[in-house]
Parts: sequence; structure tokens; C-alpha cells
Amino acid sequence: MDKLVINGQKILNGIVEISGAKNAVLPVMVATLLAPGKYRISRVPDLRDTHTMLRLLEMIGATSSFENNELLIDTTKASNPEAPYDLVKTMRASFYVLGPLTARFGYAKVSLPGGCAWGPRPVNFHISALEAMGAEIELDEGYVIATADRLKGAKITFDFPSVGATGNAVMAAVLADGETVIQNAACEPEISCLCDFLNAMGAKISGIGSEKLTIEGVDQLNPVNFEIIPDRIEAATFLIAGAMVGDNITLKGANPDHLTAVIDKLQKSGQEITTTEDSITITKVDQIKSIDMTTAVYPGFPTDVQAQWMALMTVSDGTSIITDTVYHDRFTHVSELSRFGAWITMKDNVAVVSGRKRLKGAPVMSTDIRASASLILAGLAAQDRTDISRIYHIDRGYERIEEKLKGLGADIRRESE
Ligand code: EPU
Repeated sequence: MDKLVINGQKILNGIVEISGAKNAVLPVMVATLLAPGKYRISRVPDLRDTHTMLRLLEMIGATSSFENNELLIDTTKASNPEAPYDLVKTMRASFYVLGPLTARFGYAKVSLPGGCAWGPRPVNFHISALEAMGAEIELDEGYVIATADRLKGAKITFDFPSVGATGNAVMAAVLADGETVIQNAACEPEISCLCDFLNAMGAKISGIGSEKLTIEGVDQLNPVNFEIIPDRIEAATFLIAGAMVGDNITLKGANPDHLTAVIDKLQKSGQEITTTEDSITITKVDQIKSIDMTTAVYPGFPTDVQAQWMALMTVSDGTSIITDTVYHDRFTHVSELSRFGAWITMKDNVAVVSGRKRLKGAPVMSTDIRASASLILAGLAAQDRTDISRIYHIDRGYERIEEKLKGLGADIRRESE
């Protein structure tokens, strides 16, 4: 197993290229199952999760080639509508296949994902959306089995604007008979990216980017070429690196419109940020001010940046309160950050962070993708050496992270343990 070794407190400077968004490419890959044929998808991040999704598509019968961030998928022979436990448990996004497989084949057998590293993550909204569209759902030996002659348009209102359930419902609805209206839909840019992809294939989705999506079902969709949006969570992670140990860092190929909440908080914490249409520059001008932060659905501050924000606050000038309203128990990084000497106390979904002048490097362990990112940030800012083990988590969601950081001047390397 690999680990990352960081010698901290090197000042970062320069330009870093932002990759395509993990959480956009995964549903787009799944959506290729909706119409047989050949797809060319560009700006695809070369991640562990991308490869896991390719394995799943291959099990379903698709073929692919993936080089230089360009992915060719051929779904002409896709015909096995099943997603096994072994894959779904390693990557919950595999559950996205439920909607499109049911829509295309009238049958899907998809493993329930089970819990995740930080707690339960239910899929009840996904299932009730499909039921509303007329699918019969059965649970058997840990699998969801969905059957339907043809899904029917329906009115769906989510109790919470779930990203995954919105994506699944939209992919089911595009081939359904009649109109589907989804209220309280997720507005995340990754869902808009999926809808744009589906519309390019011939779907009729309106209200993209809003809380109400209207989908007029069509009989058939067609393969297309498509480009994935930039990864706003990777971009936010590099911006926070800039605030912690940067001098002047420019993110190339980032979309500042997707990052308004993060940029606003960073500015309040004392950093200077300038943007163009497709780049963001952060210049460290001041001591990091302690700023409270509460996560929210888009366009609020993303839960996927909560751990990284906490890392930043551990070296701020005072006390900050960090609340996660999306995932109440997503705090596995707290005990690892404490190993750097950070002062953090927890009650329910609220962390209180007392900033310190400096952190001290330590051996720590990754627990999930974003928690790992927070440990890298702490390691970059800490005195002396940090060893981060179990970095397969980071490889799930960050493309060549150590190379990108090295390019900015960090002293970071990958070693086998
Ligand atoms: N929820 C339910 N029932 C459901 C679905 C969700 O109660 O059927 C609840 C969840 O428990 C949670 C909230 O709704 O409290 C939001 O969950 P959501 O469904 O929006 O999350 P997700 O689709 O499972 C995606 C991202 C996550 C990201 C969340 C929130 C992908 C592949 N994953 O997950 O990304 O944290 O949205 O923005 O898009 C990551 O990239 O590290 C990651 C975990």
C-alpha cells in the first residue's frame, strides 16, 4: 500500500491545472447506458473511481478505452443490467445505474451500498422516485431489484435535494412515458452537467440548475461527444492550500461561478482572490482569520470542502465553528487532525476549532477522500515530516495530487509502505 510523505512549510507558488469533476463524470459515464453506441468524453479525470465505474460498465457489457483524459465508451453490446456488491460497496456512485438500467432494460439488479466510512448514507429517495415512475421494487439478499415495462412520468418531491437521487431520477425519467416533474431537485453543477449531457443525447430536460426539473420523456436517445466540467472540490482544495502555505497560486481551467461560497469565505479569512472566466488566483496577504462555516447544498458551502476548511481553521488566528448540515457525522478527520496538534472539540454535527500558531507533522491515516485532502493540507502547513497512510482514498478523487503539489513547490512524495 502506498503512503504520502510530506515535509511541510514549503511555500507554494505557480499554476496548477484543475481536472474534470469526479462527481460529474461518474453519472455521465452511467448515462451512456441509456442509448447503445459510441461516446467520446473529454476532460475525464484519471481516478480510481473512474476506473471502478469503467469496470462496472464493462460488467454490464460496454467496452472502453481511456487515454490522456479522453474516454471512449461503446455501449452497443451492454445487456447485463446488474451491479454486484463487490463494486457498489467500494464506490456508492455505482448505485447511479439503477435508474438508467431500469429505463433501458425494464430490469435492474443493483446491490445496496451499505454504510460508508463516516456513517449511514441511505438510498430511500432513489428507490421511491423509481417507484413513483411505476417500477416494482423488491429487496433480495442485499440487492434492489427493479422491474418495469416502461417507466411512466411522475411528480416527485424530494424531502432533501439529494444529488444522487436527483441524478438517478432524471436518468430514469428521460426515457419514461410522459412528463416527470422533480421538485426540490439538487442544483449542484454536477447535476446540471449530467442534464446537459442528456439533453445533448436528445433528452428534453428544462429547469436545469434550478430546484424544479421538468423532463419530457422521449422514445430514444443518441450517443454524443461531451466535455466534463472542472472539479470545483479539487479547485477548492488547492485554494485552501494557497491560503495555508501559498504565496501566489493560479488555478487554470477552474470555474469561479461554481465556487462563490468558498471564495467568499476565503476572502473573509483574509486572502486576496481574483478570477477570470476560467481561472482563479489566490494571493496570501494576511494572517488567516478564523471564520465560522456551515455546509449547505449548492450554492452553499460544500460538505465536500468541510474537512479542508477545518484544516485551514486549525492554523487561523482564533476560534471558529464548523457545522455540517448535509452529513451530520462526516468528521472522521477530526481525530487525525488532532494528531498534528490541532485543537478541535466536537458536539453532534458541530466542531469548534481553536487556531494554533503551528502544527507539527505526524503519522496519520486517510479515512475518506475529503478527510485525506485535509490531512495533506495540514501536512503541507506543519513543521517537519508527515506520513499519510491508506492513500487509496485520495486516489479515488484527486488526480495526480502529489505531482500537482510538487509542481507548486511542495515537498511531497509517494512511497510504498
Ligand atoms: N439522503 C437520504 N436518502 C437518500 C439520499 C440521500 O436521506 O436516498 C441524505 C443523505 O444521507 C445526506 C443528504 O441526503 O444526508 C445528501 O446526500 P446526497 O444524496 O446528496 O449525496 P450523494 O449523492 O450520495 C453526492 C456526492 C458526495 C457529496 C454529496 C453531497 C457523488 C458521487 N457523491 O453524494 O461526494 O458529498 O453528494 O454534496 O456525487 C465526495 O466526492 O467525496 C462525496 C462524498
